[in-house]
Amino acid sequence: MSSLPLNVVILAAGKGTRMHSDLPKVLHKLAGRPLVQHVLDVAVKLHAQKICVIYGHGGEAVPQAMTGYDAKFVLQEPQLGTGHAVQQALPHLSDDSLTLILYGDVPLTQPETLQQMLLAPDALTLLTIKLADPTGYGRIVRDAQERITRIVEEKDATPAERVITEINTGILAAPTRLLRGWLQQLRNDNAQGEFYLTDIVAMAVAQGVEVRAAHPAHEWEVQGVNSRVQMAQLERVWQRELARGFMERGLSLADPERIDVRGTLTFDRDAEIDVGCIFEGTVHLGKNVKVGAYSIVRDSTIGDGTHIAPYSHIEDATIGADCRIGPYARIRPGATLGEDVHIGNFVEIKNSDIAAHSKANHLSYIGDATVGSNVNIGAGTITCNYDGANKHRTVIGDGAFIGSDTQLIAPVTVAAGATIGAGSTIVSDAPENALTLSRAKQVTVTGWQRPAKGKKK
Ligand code: UD1
Ligand code: MG
Repeated sequence: MSSLPLNVVILAAGKGTRMHSDLPKVLHKLAGRPLVQHVLDVAVKLHAQKICVIYGHGGEAVPQAMTGYDAKFVLQEPQLGTGHAVQQALPHLSDDSLTLILYGDVPLTQPETLQQMLLAPDALTLLTIKLADPTGYGRIVRDAQERITRIVEEKDATPAERVITEINTGILAAPTRLLRGWLQQLRNDNAQGEFYLTDIVAMAVAQGVEVRAAHPAHEWEVQGVNSRVQMAQLERVWQRELARGFMERGLSLADPERIDVRGTLTFDRDAEIDVGCIFEGTVHLGKNVKVGAYSIVRDSTIGDGTHIAPYSHIEDATIGADCRIGPYARIRPGATLGEDVHIGNFVEIKNSDIAAHSKANHLSYIGDATVGSNVNIGAGTITCNYDGANKHRTVIGDGAFIGSDTQLIAPVTVAAGATIGAGSTIVSDAPENALTLSRAKQVTVTGWQRPAKGKKK
């Protein structure tokens, strides 16, 4: 790698007209992250000493969305071309560095590819690729010895030059000191009346500076996004790529075409994912975990051997080993489940700890609760945690049995081993190892008649 410090300039001032959107193009999301954030993350991975983002359309939206980065945001107004854009960054770059130019709408260039561009700190390095259809791109012009002599934009190219299939991806690296000198000499006497960054190539050649090319491992690494159609295509390409990597590292996917990962998914051996699942944020699946079809898991950890049945939603939760979740379970933020906990269909758990071997199998709401181990929560049980102003806690001791259709009016404690009769409304603490119930006595009214419909007159 280069011994020079690295400065990265990210061009992101373009309008994105073809997105037909009020949101600046580079803030549209791919795999859950804004396009420009992918590029910023790569710059960080490359240990850039300085990062400068050139923005324009969309006002302050871009800097405001990316406040988490140690980057300089520079407004380019008006936008007079790619060379003019890089000129805006010059005051923020250090002369003893190597500058790498990236694009806010080209999100998937891999660090390994870019590292190839930083190997010759005295040269101008272009990232180029041969395309079956080079239409629209600047062409790489080489001499008889295959040395790069210049880049010609399609609109300025002769018919012979348009036949060239090696194209300029736009991404380049150059010693900052040289780049500064070249940019100061740019002119806009071309078909588009713009200051072309690409004109620095001929200047480097004239000055005797080595111009070399590096190539991406995959075409998608240099694909830009100009429309929602291209966005969706690139999203699929990236999801397929992620899926391939997961499978190569031992994750089973029922169908690699039907998984979406918008964040970081990690897993231990022999985890399996059925079709249509979405993973967001940071998710870890333990050994032998099974995730059923159409489940959504966000920022959660799933313990070894746990099975999640289809259509379950899990967010900000920690789920222990050997649990049985769903189908149709909803586990919300702050839920912590111990080992072998069963959460069945239409059960919602929020901000609650549920200890080992406890079960809530049907149609319940457990919110702001501390539930011990070996507790059985009957169908339809509700913790009434909210009094209209404040949230209160429900505590259920080990081995308690909550009969079906119980309302636990918090704050309330059900002691260990207590049994609550079905259909009870529990307003005060229930003692241990006793049956507590609050239920009207059953009566039968003899001689009672169902109302009959009145005869029509
Ligand atoms: C540019 C290259 C071309 C290359 C192509 C790759 C030049 C002159 N041409 O052409 O050789 O094949 O990219 O896609 O560089 N931008 C700004 N400010 C500006 C102008 C552009 O920030 O004033 C940004 C845009 O937001 C965009 C990028 O620079 O992300 C490229 O600009 P664009 O106008 O798309 O360049 P092309 O004409 O496609
Ligand atoms: Mg253009």
